[in-house]
Amino acid sequence: MNILVLNGPNLNLLGERESSLYGAMTLAQLVKKVTAHARRRGAKVRARQSNSEGTLIDILHSHRKWADAIVFNPGAYTHYSYALRDAVAAIRVPTIEVHLSDVTRREPFRRVSVIEPVCAGRRFGKGLQSYFEAIDVLVSLNRHSSSRPNPSPAEVYATGSRMAKYKK
Ligand code: DQA
Repeated sequence: MNILVLNGPNLNLLGERESSLYGAMTLAQLVKKVTAHARRRGAKVRARQSNSEGTLIDILHSHRKWADAIVFNPGAYTHYSYALRDAVAAIRVPTIEVHLSDVTRREPFRRVSVIEPVCAGRRFGKGLQSYFEAIDVLVSLNRHSSSRPNPSPAEVYATGSRMAKYKK
């Protein structure tokens, strides 16, 4: 199983950026731990980061055949990027939105996610553990989905029962 771990804007500064919110770990350290976690569950990781919306879209497009699943921290784009939302919906790869911090308990603008409705799930507020849990959910979804291609996250969302549909 192949998993794309995609990090968005400002996450390249992890370790030096607002460490009270995001922790002391650098992005390289985080990627190393997430990769090791995925490997223990039999999955291979490709990690990418970009500060640019267009580049993130290009990365999603170019990995749509390679990736069986995606762990995506869209950073602040989470809260307003319809272009990223459309990209996630378009590529038909199960995606979990992740955040290090608890976006539901910060400024009001962070409580909105335009990405979440097209994802298979969401993990936030647990730092590195948010990424681990996303990997675990995606590995489990992959094991339980016998038919390919997977339904698009948008279709799953439309049913109102995201995880159930993947699991059948
Ligand atoms: C973040 C939360 C976002 O609101 C913020 O813009 C980030 C990081 C997180 O991982 O907690 O850049 O995605």
